[in-house]
Amino acid sequence: MKVLITGANGQLGWELQRARPNGFEIIALDIQEMDITDSPAVATVIQEYQPDLIINTAAYTAVDKAEEDKDKAFAINANGAAYIAKAAQGCRARLIHISTDFVFDGTKSQPYRPGDRTNPISVYGASKLQGELDVLAKTMNSALILRTGWLYSVHGSNFVKTMLKLMAEKEELRVIADQTGTPTWAGDFARAIYRFADIPDIKGIYHWADAGTASWFDFAVAIQEEAFKLGLLKIRIPVKPIRTEEYPTPAKRPAYSVLDKSSTWKTLGYKASHWRDSLRRMLEELKEVRSEV
Ligand SMILES: NC(=O)c1ccc[n+]([C@@H]2O[C@H](COP(=O)([O-])OP(=O)(O)OC[C@H]3O[C@@H](n4cnc5c(N)ncnc54)[C@H](OP(=O)(O)O)[C@@H]3O)[C@@H](O)[C@H]2O)c1
Repeated sequence: MKVLITGANGQLGWELQRARPNGFEIIALDIQEMDITDSPAVATVIQEYQPDLIINTAAYTAVDKAEEDKDKAFAINANGAAYIAKAAQGCRARLIHISTDFVFDGTKSQPYRPGDRTNPISVYGASKLQGELDVLAKTMNSALILRTGWLYSVHGSNFVKTMLKLMAEKEELRVIADQTGTPTWAGDFARAIYRFADIPDIKGIYHWADAGTASWFDFAVAIQEEAFKLGLLKIRIPVKPIRTEEYPTPAKRPAYSVLDKSSTWKTLGYKASHWRDSLRRMLEELKEVRSEV
């Protein structure tokens, strides 16, 4: 199967390249090779490669910056996604489009199901929701949309790497304890995406995240514990829980963004690992990478 990956230099795009199973040929493109906001370029490049499957991971992911950069967020997350969907239709390629838990407002107290009412509370969330709608419209509902949340990887910028840096520099950290979600390793998500790719004709919206739930505070504490055990951190510093109001940010974030993954587990025939096990595996990998440098 010939697979074209957009956003190939991002966390998920990079993990997708590493996780390539036998039988998959990969065309990895980032903005230098195909700017997804350039409609004619998207049409030409996709027509040229004639992929069987497109995995669209390209996105504007700076959640706070998006609040003052609305046009750009929508240009990439909504219009760009639509151009890809149109080009996919044009060459009869299947499309897997990646979306986010931030399409929900976080007011529920039970995990969000794929069919639950969306109501984004940030520009980023709204632009991603528009992307979902455009992708479904342009592909006549034949695309597969996979929503995820709280992604991290050895590659790229993310919460785990930020915490490790701050924990090595600061004497104390204060971390938000009243937002709940699920830290999710992009490595296992990439492997799951290929499992979805193996299912012919699968379409609609599914959720992927690691198992379990955590607050950012829980996540930070776990990062410190696991990193300390592995020798990635030399000392432990106090980590204190704070409320969202104590750490104001330009973008609002859902207080509860746990995704219901039951339809995914049923479809793939397996459950994701618990987030803490995935975190340990990622940190082990980070240790290896750092010792090679
Ligand atoms: N990160 C998370 O916590 C999270 C949570 C939920 C859902 N998601 C979704 O998961 C997907 C993958 O996220 P990620 O964490 O891998 O994102 P990422 O690391 O920010 O990667 C996105 C990639 O897209 C590229 N890109 C930006 N604008 C582009 C354009 N106009 N044309 C082509 N490529 C462009 C980026 O390049 P630059 O770096 O040069 O901008 C980057 O390489 C996205 O759809 C995101 O919305 C992410």
